[in-house]
Amino acid sequence: MTNNVEKSSAHVEIVPATCGHQPLLANLLELYIHDFSEFLDVELGPDGRFGYPPLHLYWNKPGRHPFLAQVDGKWAGFALVKKGSEISGNENVWDVAEFFILRGYRRQGIGTQIAHQVWRRLPGMWEVRVLESNVNARDFWARAVATFIGREIHPVRVETGGKRWEVFAFESKRV
Ligand SMILES: CC(C)(COP(=O)(O)OP(=O)(O)OC[C@H]1O[C@@H](n2cnc3c(N)ncnc32)[C@H](O)[C@@H]1OP(=O)(O)O)[C@@H](O)C(=O)NCCC(=O)NCCS
Repeated sequence: MTNNVEKSSAHVEIVPATCGHQPLLANLLELYIHDFSEFLDVELGPDGRFGYPPLHLYWNKPGRHPFLAQVDGKWAGFALVKKGSEISGNENVWDVAEFFILRGYRRQGIGTQIAHQVWRRLPGMWEVRVLESNVNARDFWARAVATFIGREIHPVRVETGGKRWEVFAFESKRV
């Protein structure tokens, strides 16, 4: 298996998002949801925004970690992470709630590096859920997880909340 994690020579890092970053994250979430509107039924509000009502929870509820992605000091995406499995209810599992890389930064190994940095920062059991209809992201996660744990794993198909998911489950070992 080839490992393209270091494909980009740019400096890629995750930045824990503070409450002051909330408007910035809200803007990036608009771009993310717009991407999803290609294969998911999402509607704009009357103000022309999709909105992401649970965003404030990332600073008001324990076990939530909002990260911004930076490439050479410029914003390039985000990862929203929370404790608690959406599938089994296991409270000790980390869940990737949302994950986004700006279009101009894609296919350079940046998403992979960001995912690996997040998983290394928070050791333990992880679940990555990807909508069955989000075929590109499925390939991305299969690759990102395989290069992280050193072997390929098959996602499990799950139907919950009226949506069909493929779920990758693995462990990030404490180093
Ligand atoms: C999915 C996403 C995070 C990938 O980010 P990225 O920085 O482009 O990913 P990488 O460059 O690290 O990709 C690594 C590998 O994943 C696979 N991959 C990534 N994007 C892919 C795509 N659009 N189609 C097929 N395979 C893809 C490829 O194998 C790729 O390696 P390659 O470029 O050498 O072929 C990004 O496209 C994105 O933000 N999409 C919209 C939001 C989304 O779907 N988020 C995931 C929610 S579950």
